[in-house]
Amino acid sequence: MQVRITKAEQPKAKPDENKLGFGTIFTDHMFNMDYSVENGWHHPRIEPYAPLVMDPSTMVLHYGQGVFEGLKAYRNAKGEVQLFRPRENFKRLNASNHKLCIPKIDEAFALDALKQLLTVETDWVPSVPGTSLYIRPTIIATDPFLGVRASFTYRFFIILSPVGAYYAEGFNPVKIMVTKEHVRAVRGGVGDTKTMGNYAASLLAGDKAHQAGYTQVLWLDGVEQKFIEEVGAMNIFFVIDDELTTPMLSGSILPGITRDSVIALGKSWGMKVTERKISIDEVIDAHASGRLKEIFGSGTAAVISPVGELKYADTLITVGDGKVGPLAHKFFQAIQDIQYGAIEGPAGWVEAV
Ligand code: PLP
Ligand code: COI
Repeated sequence: MQVRITKAEQPKAKPDENKLGFGTIFTDHMFNMDYSVENGWHHPRIEPYAPLVMDPSTMVLHYGQGVFEGLKAYRNAKGEVQLFRPRENFKRLNASNHKLCIPKIDEAFALDALKQLLTVETDWVPSVPGTSLYIRPTIIATDPFLGVRASFTYRFFIILSPVGAYYAEGFNPVKIMVTKEHVRAVRGGVGDTKTMGNYAASLLAGDKAHQAGYTQVLWLDGVEQKFIEEVGAMNIFFVIDDELTTPMLSGSILPGITRDSVIALGKSWGMKVTERKISIDEVIDAHASGRLKEIFGSGTAAVISPVGELKYADTLITVGDGKVGPLAHKFFQAIQDIQYGAIEGPAGWVEAV
């Protein structure tokens, strides 16, 4: 399938790269593609970034049948644009599609279309250290229909946004609040997908955390509310003694690509890395006995985010000295160095555009 390209008549002014936040500025073009039962995925095209016009009865607006991904394009020291493990994102998009009854996309074609879009938008990839072009592939159900069933038609689009740090804190410790009042997902549900409703379901707890002075919520399992799951937009790691521990993939947390990269790098450095159930009580006890050395989150938007403070009911933990821990720093540096091409990562992690 050929991707038809229509160029924008008036390119927008580029933002100041030193003042980029997250997700507020969008580039000149987007990728669009449609699905119908008769034609399958068809009509792939790159065209000017524009509002979507849709019927008020469009199914995604009512029942949330939609999925998305998040990855980034980085400018390396030679000025070239590169992607970090993009095939994993399209694979995960299809895993989300499966759970949401959305027809699968051709992963290789989607990656090729993304590369064509990035080639059109290459000037939008910023070069100031720590900045990148955030990529948001999204699929939505588009039937104008109010009955509850899977849609027969879909739109797949990709938009691009030049970004800096996700958290206002930058690479500085964030404060995290554990909630027992709310749950995000349960086994057998859709917590392991990137579907819109998961994020909607996290907002109330997030608001309460913000009001109490915390950046994000750390979720516990939806059944016993005892075992640690993940943070709003990141997976989570604990350094207890000299072991790196992260919750195992239970079906209710997102299988993060940064998480997988941290595990692989940690093992390659000879560290003991364990994926298992870890309870909040174990973390509190490890802190009390002086064995909890670091906590950090991992995610595309957040990269590596050290946790300086953790609040659970009436217990407030300051992790280490509340500053960035040495391992969080080492992972942050290594992952960024690979993403920006300063060092070579494991085979296949970085892909030129
Ligand atoms: N968990 C949630 C809920 C997320 O939204 C994200 C971000 O995509 C992650 C974890 C981290 O996943 P990844 O490392 O693939 O970006
Ligand atoms: C990401 O890290 O890519 C995310 O999607 C997290 C958040 C912005 C939803």
